[in-house]
Amino acid sequence: MFSFATTLLVGAIVANGLILHPGYDQVATDQYNLLKFMIGAGPFVEHSGFGIPLDTPPHCEIEQAQLFMRHGERFPTKSSGKQYKKFYDRLKKANITDYKGPLAFIEDLEYFVPDSDNYDLETTRGLYSGLLNAFKFGTYLRERYDSLVDTSSVLPIFAASEDRVVDTARSFGRGFFGPDYATSCSIQVVNETDTSKGANALTTKDNCPTYNSSFYDYSFGDEIFQREADRLNELSPGFNITADDIITMGTYCAYETNVKGHSSFCDALSREAFIALQYNNDVTKFYQFGPGYNMSAVAGGVYANATAKLLQEDGKLWFSFSHDNDLLNYITALGLITDTELGTEDVDFHRSFKTSELVPQGARLIIEKLNCSDTSFVRTILNDKVYPVPGCSSGPGYSCPLEDYLDIITPEVDYASACELPDDAPKEISFYWDWKPTFENN
Ligand SMILES: *[C@@H]1O[C@H](CO)[C@@H](O)[C@H](O)[C@H]1NC(C)=O
Ligand SMILES: *[C@@H]1O[C@H](CO)[C@@H](O)[C@H](O)[C@H]1NC(C)=O
Ligand SMILES: *[C@@H]1O[C@H](CO)[C@@H](O)[C@H](O)[C@H]1NC(C)=O
Ligand SMILES: *[C@@H]1O[C@H](CO)[C@@H](O)[C@H](O)[C@H]1NC(C)=O
Ligand SMILES: *[C@@H]1O[C@H](CO)[C@@H](O)[C@H](O)[C@H]1NC(C)=O
Ligand SMILES: *[C@@H]1O[C@H](CO)[C@@H](O)[C@H](O)[C@H]1NC(C)=O
Ligand SMILES: *[C@@H]1O[C@H](CO)[C@@H](O)[C@H](O)[C@H]1NC(C)=O
Repeated sequence: MFSFATTLLVGAIVANGLILHPGYDQVATDQYNLLKFMIGAGPFVEHSGFGIPLDTPPHCEIEQAQLFMRHGERFPTKSSGKQYKKFYDRLKKANITDYKGPLAFIEDLEYFVPDSDNYDLETTRGLYSGLLNAFKFGTYLRERYDSLVDTSSVLPIFAASEDRVVDTARSFGRGFFGPDYATSCSIQVVNETDTSKGANALTTKDNCPTYNSSFYDYSFGDEIFQREADRLNELSPGFNITADDIITMGTYCAYETNVKGHSSFCDALSREAFIALQYNNDVTKFYQFGPGYNMSAVAGGVYANATAKLLQEDGKLWFSFSHDNDLLNYITALGLITDTELGTEDVDFHRSFKTSELVPQGARLIIEKLNCSDTSFVRTILNDKVYPVPGCSSGPGYSCPLEDYLDIITPEVDYASACELPDDAPKEISFYWDWKPTFENN
């Protein structure tokens, strides 16, 4: 007879000495997961990781955790929704006598956003419900960090003020605190439209007058998108698909998947097109919010600086919610990306900067402070996988010694001066320290 214990021990299912199934997977399927090609617009997907167990390393205990999270799966924004509806209407109006090929499904296609009130908000039902995923993640972190919770005091959860971010923070809180939600946590809404808040925000790039996300204008894939359009027009004639339509279909696929759990546009597009769509987005974002633009680490440096300060204090749990591009700024400031440039001639298959790996909907970065035999180390966990700090992984479980970590993440450039902030604007984050318990936002 075989048992679960035997399975674990020998890494294979063994019955009476006969090996029934290999204990090690010989197929590498992760590379084909379409969620890795939805440019960060599609449902959450874990980072591919490096094989490092999530378990706390032996002789270590977690002393502090800082979470910085993007809101969960959502509907398209109003402006991109308008574009999808226009595209949908055009396809529906085409005079097609014989629906065939990859786009045959358009004959029966219904528009995926039921009500214009849904735009900009989280998805609330179905397979990829953004609010459910945030709730589940809250329950998971409660399990992991239960020993850090002081049930006699109120814990803040910081959220940038857009509805979908606050809704995500609340759902996370309900998962983390369970029945104690109403009294144990306090949702602290951090205004994201009041630029006079300067550095005291979770959307610092927006409060930085010199941050110009159009400073570079890089893209990729025109020829490949045209080739894909030609392919679809040949197999499904009559729609006059253009190269630009391919880009629209790529994100239509992602958002329709968030809402309905599936999209026929995802099936219609070739893998060749998806690889180019992903790379096109990576190149653009790399030079807008990643290491390709020198203001990224300045805007993200504000959070990195606060992270460093919190790591040297006694607070145990810090939860912050914001947007993908702010998370990219932060990841950049923390030195987690090793790419220094991305070319636009060919796909750089060997890059680490892939937006679907870094900032899918519901993306989360956790910084854990470990105490291992009285020495402090830091581990970063990106999208549920240990993601070692490049150039600093000598500690237990490939963690980084705290002192070295502080050197790595301390910003080189001052936000206030690089952004040319007015004198009266806050020059660093203070909300982590001067928040007051209130329950009106819960
Ligand atoms: C497609 O292009 C052809 C030729 O330019 C034109 O006659 C037809 O109206 C177009 N159809 C659509 C759906 O745009
Ligand atoms: C639709 O296409 C058919 C066949 O090509 C043609 O006979 C018909 O006139 C077209 N109808 C419109 C409204 O363009
Ligand atoms: C943010 O600040 C702006 C400008 O002061 C104000 O109009 C807006 O109501 C504030 N938003 C929230 C959510 O408090
Ligand atoms: C941002 O940079 C682009 C490219 O250099 C420039 O055309 C544009 O005027 C800049 N925008 C602002 C607000 O400075
Ligand atoms: C960013 O690079 C530009 C040149 O492209 C330079 O003028 C600017 O001072 C740099 N800013 C920072 C914060 O390094
Ligand atoms: C690390 O943990 C040990 C054992 O629990 C404790 O005595 C020590 O004070 C901790 N060290 C730090 C730096 O927190
Ligand atoms: C980092 O924070 C410290 C205070 O903790 C502040 O003095 C320093 O100016 C900040 N550095 C940057 C680059 O923001």
